[in-house]
Amino acid sequence: MSNTKKLFIKTYGCQMNVYDSERMVDAMGADGYTTVDSPEQADMILLNTCHIREKAAEKIYSELGRYRPLKDANPDLKIGVAGCVAQAEGEEIMIRQPMVDLVVGPQAYHRLPKMAEKAGNGVQVLDTEFPEEDKFEFLPRGTKARRAPAAFLTVQEGCDKFCAFCVVPYTRGAEVSRAPERLMAEARDLVERGVVEISLLGQNVNAYLADDWTLPRLIRELAKIDGLERIRYMTSHPNDMADDLIAVHGEVEKLMPYLHLPVQSGSDKVLKAMNRKHTAADYLKVLERMRVVRPDIMLSGDFIVGFPGEDEADFQATMDLCEEVRYGQAYSFKYSPRPGTPAADRAHVEESVKTERLHRLQALLTSHQVEFQNSMIGRTLPVLVEKLGRETGQVIGKSPYLHATHFLGDPSDIGKVVNVKVVATERNSLSAEKI
Ligand code: 5AD
Ligand code: SF4
Repeated sequence: MSNTKKLFIKTYGCQMNVYDSERMVDAMGADGYTTVDSPEQADMILLNTCHIREKAAEKIYSELGRYRPLKDANPDLKIGVAGCVAQAEGEEIMIRQPMVDLVVGPQAYHRLPKMAEKAGNGVQVLDTEFPEEDKFEFLPRGTKARRAPAAFLTVQEGCDKFCAFCVVPYTRGAEVSRAPERLMAEARDLVERGVVEISLLGQNVNAYLADDWTLPRLIRELAKIDGLERIRYMTSHPNDMADDLIAVHGEVEKLMPYLHLPVQSGSDKVLKAMNRKHTAADYLKVLERMRVVRPDIMLSGDFIVGFPGEDEADFQATMDLCEEVRYGQAYSFKYSPRPGTPAADRAHVEESVKTERLHRLQALLTSHQVEFQNSMIGRTLPVLVEKLGRETGQVIGKSPYLHATHFLGDPSDIGKVVNVKVVATERNSLSAEKI
């Protein structure tokens, strides 16, 4: 087999897809592929896709359309679709875009190299099974190449909660937690390769349970690894914020004071229609307890506006909840009906109403974000330096609260946690000085 094959991989959606793409690069690397930065240079193009909202899925088809001339010029070019669109639409993708050679769902990545070998020149290959085995176990480990200082580690995948708006239970399958020994080994390997911060990923990461290992236990064990300075986890469900998980925030210094805890709506009526199985008061209670053990915690959330049945009073309840919590950062979306989910067939809120509510909510969330960022001015923060900045002498890293922070430093700062004083804030970043 030639060892000059070139892979172009483009990643959409959540951090879990970023992690999966890295693993696919490892797997294909063992098969002689190296990555390239543009589709024009590639022997194989792989899109790792997201199905969470309609726009995300539509983007894939327009991107595929752009590859038509490349495929015409080079019939040997292989085009693959991986990820959640692959899982949700399967064969449909090949019907809509016959030039797609392979479709691989998120649970079948360990089979990718074999599929890639078979696919192409008129042979289309599809695998969207949910096999019993841990897909990561079968993916070959990458070389011992150095890694960037901050890395993702998927510890749990899938979801059993079935929120009425969400495709994840269908695209990622049932909740599965990876074995703790494997996670500890992977974490040690990452640290040996230069990783200083690990973000534990899962669609319901705080539901992690393998043998008698829970997420707080995993965090406590990871914290013992020398050289690992920072731990984060995302995304969590309010109903799985167990006492011990809250406690670990007050105990483990390496666990960053940041919690992404989506609530989706502040209205109990809408929460019920969403099948969230908690009220706004339940959610606020969790945050209150979290702030007792970790008063400096920054909160982040996700919101959906215009869910079927949401009226102005319901929307106002969401605004009120945001006023009360004052998120340091948040994501908000218009409800997007997803085929096959329970809410898709309900009577929808008018698009113009959704748009107007989204604008109002985002204005409020932005004002809180700015307020939080401004409160950083004059403070000393430990920043994990990740890379060089655009300006000479500048380095960029992350604050404990995930703010991109830049300051005049030294290339040797990369991979270190450096104390800096924040002097100004910009739209989405902090400007600082080394102390
Ligand atoms: N429409 C709009 N937003 C959605 N999300 C999930 N499904 C939908 C949908 N159908 C949002 C939720 C979730 C985040 C990852 O995406 O807020 O927390
Ligand atoms: Fe998108 Fe959800 Fe799939 Fe992540 S898991 S890529 S957010 S659909």
